[in-house]
Amino acid sequence: MLGPVHRWIWRDTERRAHKLLRFGETETDGGRDLVRASEKTSDPLLRRLYLVHAIDEHRHGEMFRRRGSALLRELSAGSNSGFQADWLAPSGHGADDLNVEEEPDDALLAFLHLSEKAAAERFTVYSHVLQDDAPTHEIFEEILRDEVFHMNYTLVQLARVSPERHRWRLWRTRLSRLWKGYLRLATAIAGLLGTVILTLQYFILLPPFAFLAKRAERRESRGWSPVDAKRNDSLNRQY
Ligand SMILES: [Fe+2]
Ligand SMILES: [Fe+2]
Repeated sequence: MLGPVHRWIWRDTERRAHKLLRFGETETDGGRDLVRASEKTSDPLLRRLYLVHAIDEHRHGEMFRRRGSALLRELSAGSNSGFQADWLAPSGHGADDLNVEEEPDDALLAFLHLSEKAAAERFTVYSHVLQDDAPTHEIFEEILRDEVFHMNYTLVQLARVSPERHRWRLWRTRLSRLWKGYLRLATAIAGLLGTVILTLQYFILLPPFAFLAKRAERRESRGWSPVDAKRNDSLNRQY
């Protein structure tokens, strides 16, 4: 349904380049979290899987960054797009930061499963709308295959480490992601409303004050004027 919107977002080459560079950062950050998770877990199989996953995310980060930089180099000077529409087309794994230090394995796996699933869904759309840009399209296709693997292994491992409670865990994580999504949306709307209200204040409230100040200025005599005798006695105090 949002296909045309995404097509419009990704059409501008400079915006595409900057989005890819930011996606690169998100992937690399995710990779770092996974390295930490692999250090922390006491489960040897999870440790191996987290490390493989971390290497994948690091590689995705490099692929996005390389493509983003190449696009920027190709760009002719003059194109300018500061608007990134990140809330409409966020990076693959979303903006939710995970606290790897405190989460137990099942919470981490549930979080990873849902964010990898979201990434796979988004990358499917991005890859579809980027068919005209073959190199970027191929990068999304390749990364998508890894994300599907990440999505599947995290679910299988969640069911293994928490056979009885894994469904409940997934629902809890889903609700927490929903809440964070609502907070992000509310913050974006609050920012927009703030801008509109301040702009209206600027154009509606300020002009009368400017007018009064101009009128008061016209009434003032030019140059120096004598001080009232009552206020003009000798200085015997600071104020
Ligand atoms: Fe990734
Ligand atoms: Fe991933």
